[in-house]
Amino acid sequence: MERTLVLVKPDGVQRGLVGAIVARLEHRGLKLIGLKMMRISQDIAARHYAEHQGKPFYDGLIGFITSGPVVAMIWEGREAVSVVRSLMGATDPLKAAPGTIRGDLALDLGMNLIHGSDSPARAETEIALFFSRGELHEYERTMDRWVRE
Ligand code: RTP
Ligand code: MG
Repeated sequence: MERTLVLVKPDGVQRGLVGAIVARLEHRGLKLIGLKMMRISQDIAARHYAEHQGKPFYDGLIGFITSGPVVAMIWEGREAVSVVRSLMGATDPLKAAPGTIRGDLALDLGMNLIHGSDSPARAETEIALFFSRGELHEYERTMDRWVRE
């Protein structure tokens, strides 16, 4: 089963939207296997957003993601990476389709509520950056046995 890292960004925590975001992922059928609230350090932020280093929005992005607590989660499911990306909507909430998290709940390009890994390879790297093995929880749901791998 594929796994992906999701962050409810500081704006989502401050606006009280953690529950709404978790509900959308749960309702889709994804399985929550790790969750914690944390303040992202400068070091983790720089590693997490290394691909954007040198871009004009980089300093603002690092400043924002370290500005307050986030909720970090690992979700598991069939093609979890692309499923989460489609639930998130486009990076710029102005362009995100209605029905998506960003399209329904956000308006600002920087404060766009949610991060989701953008490929299975990135997901593996990001999960290792944010979580230790002991923080991942294995459990059976009744319906899991009927889900096609
Ligand atoms: P994220 O990594 O945060 O989940 O968002 P994403 O994949 O949808 O977008 P990405 O291209 O990875 O960009 C990371 C964050 O940088 C900000 N951004 N600003 N001013 C700009 O042109 C610009 N482009 C990106 C956004 O806040 C985006 O979430
Ligand atoms: Mg990204």
